[in-house]
Amino acid sequence: MNIFNWIEQHLKPEPSTTDAMIYDDMESQSDCSLIGIYRPFDGTKRSHWSERGSVLDFLCATGGEGRRLLDFGPGDGWPSLLLAPYALEVVGLDSSRKRVQVCRTNAQRMGINNAWFQRYRTADPIPFPAESFDGVIAASSIEQTPDPKEILAEIHRILRPGGRLRIFYEGLAGYRGESERDLAILEQGRAACKMLLYDRDIARERVIQYAIDLQVSKSDLLERLGTDRPEYSNLTVEILQRIEPMIERTRVVETIHPSGQTWVRWLGQVGFRSVRPTHDGSRGAVVMYDRLTGPNRPMDVGDVDDMIRPAVELAVNLECPLHRDPRITATK
Ligand SMILES: C[S@@+](CC[C@H](N)C(=O)[O-])C[C@H]1O[C@@H](n2cnc3c(N)ncnc32)[C@H](O)[C@@H]1O
Repeated sequence: MNIFNWIEQHLKPEPSTTDAMIYDDMESQSDCSLIGIYRPFDGTKRSHWSERGSVLDFLCATGGEGRRLLDFGPGDGWPSLLLAPYALEVVGLDSSRKRVQVCRTNAQRMGINNAWFQRYRTADPIPFPAESFDGVIAASSIEQTPDPKEILAEIHRILRPGGRLRIFYEGLAGYRGESERDLAILEQGRAACKMLLYDRDIARERVIQYAIDLQVSKSDLLERLGTDRPEYSNLTVEILQRIEPMIERTRVVETIHPSGQTWVRWLGQVGFRSVRPTHDGSRGAVVMYDRLTGPNRPMDVGDVDDMIRPAVELAVNLECPLHRDPRITATK
């Protein structure tokens, strides 16, 4: 029997939402890996330049310098906390209580006082008046909500005329092949873990996600699975039957993961007057990193930003083919 059918029949998962079944249960949703939030910037590293390019991408694409920005679904505070030094004010809106708490703690630790974070209930309207933001940024978050097209309509409502939305999303095309069905295991304290199973339907642009909470540590579970690298291909119904007594709770959610083409269509339908899929600022930053060598390559984050900014500006204004599921800028 197929694993997913077995889960449905034997574990009878409760319908849930991603904020409740995943994001509320994570101390850090980035594994404390975010540069500039959890780890210092290191100018010798290409990946750190790429990260600065990604942050400046949101700033340049929204024209957000000195403006009021909304970060929809900030997670651990990315990119809101890194954009705050440039913006007039950044508001992070997330439906996960835990994520809002973590963002507030990170802002306080970083000494940022023009970013504030607010929780609202999944599927409620966005709790801000019409035309109250100059720019909106959303990184891998709108596709985690129950109705992404409705969120786009809400974002359109709260943007001022001429205001811009920049989105970065998880398209499914990159998962074609072995990763269409996937497994991850998250540590949940010392004696518990969460098994996440993904069934990705690329043609329908849908993902069914199961979260199985287990009363066993991640390392013990891996031992029982007979592996140190959890992979979907190692999982069998027999293994699930063996670990069933340790299962505390099983939840399921189906999310919509639009392709670039679907995002562009929806953004037009909800009323944006210009919708442009473009290249990514991080690409501009790594081109600069590769061109510069030795003493010509700055180390300080401010100098790196000055160096990469023209390349980022260029990238975010350069049209990118839609089949690559690129970042999109939509103007009201
Ligand atoms: C993949 S994380 C991305 C976090 C962050 N933007 C980043 O890129 O690191 C998705 C975020 O969306 C949030 N989220 C899930 N459902 C949501 C909803 N209905 N409304 C707002 N945020 C939601 C989650 O709580 C989480 O913070």
